[in-house]
Amino acid sequence: MSASAQMTAIVQHSFGAPEVLTLSQAARPAPLPTEVLVRVHASGVNPVDWQTRAGDGVAWALGEPPFTLGWDVSGVVEEVGFGVTTLAPGDEVYGMPWFPRAAGGYAEFVTAPSRQFARKPRSITHEQAAAVPLAALTAWQSLIDTAHVQPGQRVLVHAAAGGVGHFAVQIAKHLGAHVIGTARSARHDWLTGLGADQVIDYTTAAFEDVLADAYIDVVLDLAGDGRDNTSTRSLTVLRPGGLLVAVPGGVSPELAAAADAAGVRATPFLVEPDGTALTRIAELIDAGTIRVEVEEVFPLAEAARAHARGQANRTRGKLVLHVAS
Ligand SMILES: NC(=O)c1ccc[n+]([C@@H]2O[C@H](COP(=O)([O-])OP(=O)(O)OC[C@H]3O[C@@H](n4cnc5c(N)ncnc54)[C@H](OP(=O)(O)O)[C@@H]3O)[C@@H](O)[C@H]2O)c1
Repeated sequence: MSASAQMTAIVQHSFGAPEVLTLSQAARPAPLPTEVLVRVHASGVNPVDWQTRAGDGVAWALGEPPFTLGWDVSGVVEEVGFGVTTLAPGDEVYGMPWFPRAAGGYAEFVTAPSRQFARKPRSITHEQAAAVPLAALTAWQSLIDTAHVQPGQRVLVHAAAGGVGHFAVQIAKHLGAHVIGTARSARHDWLTGLGADQVIDYTTAAFEDVLADAYIDVVLDLAGDGRDNTSTRSLTVLRPGGLLVAVPGGVSPELAAAADAAGVRATPFLVEPDGTALTRIAELIDAGTIRVEVEEVFPLAEAARAHARGQANRTRGKLVLHVAS
């Protein structure tokens, strides 16, 4: 392969509305030692993508455009750099490499450290696999590594129907927790099928009224104080010493003070690349323990339309870009 080989990618030259995402030609990357070059079949779309596109999200890590968004990829190893021992050309892999640095996932090829990838779950397509890494790692790392959820604990998941939420419901259930989710009523049967023990329609009831005296051990808040003040309102449903994981908005000084006054704990969270956890998640997917919900697959060229859809904040499960077959 010549160093100047080109590939198709979505490039943005300025921060702005979805229309800044344009199908372009870009330089095809080459793997350094310990890295793999992956031919991308599908790329997942996450809220951090549209937040960063507009200059928010992790724009602080990417710097000024031009750049290519996208962290979730599923594809096939094309080439390995010196020192790579666990993957070989032809292996099917998925991952969320480099986060929060740019990974350039909305493209035909990405290079990244080999151990930030894992073998793709065998039982699902590349489109489904690309829906998994960032959302499932967020659920996995927050429930297991941060909250240390134990069997029998009561876990409340806000925005249970979204990308992170639907994995969180299933992972918390797998851990043996009693799982409560918030979602509009049209999602309730589906979430119950994924393992939720109780689902609250946040559009018609205040969850803190429904859960008065519920003695919740862990709240995984995927809506945040920016949406309906869910983090602050959640402090009242936690048992003494219980934990709020405030995923989107983090913990403001006001929220920290309110948690302290209420005798509960509150922590912010940021997902990180984790090939080892992805291997475990792939096993649970192949065992049928975790199901992947993809609401819609868009062609790579229609990344802008996928962003516009996602920003409407009504996605059931995930949105994905088809890059190549
Ligand atoms: N810090 C980190 O490391 C990290 C990692 C991943 C995600 N995040 C953040 O976490 C948030 C969730 O991510 P995601 O990928 O799951 O988003 P998503 O898939 O776009 O979430 C969409 C879902 O949110 C639900 N929703 C919206 N407002 C709600 C409310 N007030 N109460 C309950 N549910 C509500 C909707 O449910 P209905 O259809 O039922 O209305 C919809 O299904 C985003 O803000 C994202 O940026 C942060």
